[in-house]
Amino acid sequence: MKENPILTVFISGSGSNLAAIIAAIASGKLKAQIGRVIADRDCAGKAHAFAAHIPFIMVDRKLPEATFKQQLHAAISPETRLIVLAGFLSVIPLEIIQAYPQKIINLHPSLLPKYGGKGMYGMRVHQAVLSAGETSSGCSVHYVDEGIDTGKVIAQKRVPVYQDDTPQVLQQRIQKQEHTLLVDTIAMLLN
Ligand code: GRF
Repeated sequence: MKENPILTVFISGSGSNLAAIIAAIASGKLKAQIGRVIADRDCAGKAHAFAAHIPFIMVDRKLPEATFKQQLHAAISPETRLIVLAGFLSVIPLEIIQAYPQKIINLHPSLLPKYGGKGMYGMRVHQAVLSAGETSSGCSVHYVDEGIDTGKVIAQKRVPVYQDDTPQVLQQRIQKQEHTLLVDTIAMLLN
């Protein structure tokens, strides 16, 4: 039987997107397997990897830069078909980007190119969207290139922004959409 394509998932946080990928695989919606979950810090998301018996590797972002880069690269299994950054907060070293061309995707909680770039992560993104008085926001999946959030956008989902939204409420509305957007985009790319 043909083996399912192997994903490597990078996380730094709660891992709700990792959980969505695991659930989609378990239900048969996504024909893939997660070979490894890699984190750059101790994070709540590792529990999802443990529960699904997926090998988990932590490469501490506080390691000396050269060691971090080398260990992160070594942690990726070469059979990896797609590297999925699901809330990974460290910048991916150039060596890895060059070794996996068009094989690294990232999820970002805005409609890129709006509200992307250095320092634009987590609640800061939603705060900026609200401060600018936007009437809609959303999430994007894009290829990772040498820049920060600058790679080609593959898919996006738009959500409304309401006048009384707080950053937390907007984040929750977007995160629900992220889970399906990410799973659907992975499925599309593997086909
Ligand atoms: C998501 O909102 C994603 O857009 C951003 O980081 C967050 C990760 O959430 N890149 P989780 O760890 O998957 O719950």
